[in-house]
Amino acid sequence: MDLGDIRNKYIEAVAKASGEAALEDVRVAALGKKGEISALMATLGKMDPEERKATGARLNVLKDEIDAALRARKTALADAALDERLKSEWLDVTLPGRPRRQGTIHPISQVWDELTAIFADMGFSVAEGPQVESDWYNFDALNIPPEHPARQEHDTFFMARAEGDNRPPHVLRTHTSPVQIRSLQANGAPIRIIAPGRVYRMDMDQTHTPMFHQVEGLAIDRDISMANLKWCLEEFCRSFFEVDRVELRFRASHFPFTEPSAEVDIRYSNVGGQLRIGEGDKWMEILGSGMVHPKVLAAAGVDPEQWQGFAFGMGIDRIAMLKYGIPDLRAFFEADLRWLRHYGFSALDVPGLPGGLSR
Ligand code: DAH
Repeated sequence: MDLGDIRNKYIEAVAKASGEAALEDVRVAALGKKGEISALMATLGKMDPEERKATGARLNVLKDEIDAALRARKTALADAALDERLKSEWLDVTLPGRPRRQGTIHPISQVWDELTAIFADMGFSVAEGPQVESDWYNFDALNIPPEHPARQEHDTFFMARAEGDNRPPHVLRTHTSPVQIRSLQANGAPIRIIAPGRVYRMDMDQTHTPMFHQVEGLAIDRDISMANLKWCLEEFCRSFFEVDRVELRFRASHFPFTEPSAEVDIRYSNVGGQLRIGEGDKWMEILGSGMVHPKVLAAAGVDPEQWQGFAFGMGIDRIAMLKYGIPDLRAFFEADLRWLRHYGFSALDVPGLPGGLSR
């Protein structure tokens, strides 16, 4: 009996088996109850004792060899399958646990929170007023009577009145200054508030949009002066722009609601699109300010003989552009996701003074 051929046939078949099922087929064909080796085993009974002994031993060796080959191949196949699975199910545990965030905090919201943190630290609380405002709050109470040229300069959006209603139309507020009146009426003096919010004017170019943002400031007490205003604004700018040195230029100006009035510019440089605050030879106007006009205090029910103080109105968009180097104001309001991903902030960047404004 030539067991060599049988051995080679099965060893080869084991090596070629590409999976567990194929391997099992080989096992059944060779070692199964009706398999070839088993059939040979069954012929032993008819042999004489000498032959049976010799053939039985050879058959057992062969059986063991095939069995060992089957096991080895089975282990190899299982290892390969595991490797394959590990490769395809490989998980990078250093990747973020959640999918990449789509949304970001808009620079205006970020700056709004930043300036609120700074003024809150100086003892200012936050006040609000409506965006659709009566013309008394938006103009008259601020010492801008109907014939005053400032009314034209504001490029006002007017709300429609019902047919036959001859009262002056409401307006989309042209500045945050009416919140001065509302806050004084509600709380009286002394008072220290800021009022960030949206304002509206009919204007559109690279530095103007029909809606933009201002923050009003108001500090009224018995002896508040321009010196307090100057300190407050310089302190704010140092903190906001996160630089040790800022230079502000107070330019004499005129607003109906302040006397005296000043517009304030901040020194900056623009080198290859890189804006730097506190150096260089450029000036950017960032706010209007002054000592609140006695007529304004009186209109709000506060006695100008006893109380005085400063007010300012600052462009939030302006200081956001300056701080974060954003060249075109219109892009703020185009809701372009690519722009927002570039200039937006993480929801976890909550501005606060203790850790430094923008860590
Ligand atoms: N309301 C002014 C504007 O929108 C800005 C302003 C100037 C506000 C002087 C003030 C102020 O409170 O004192 O142009």
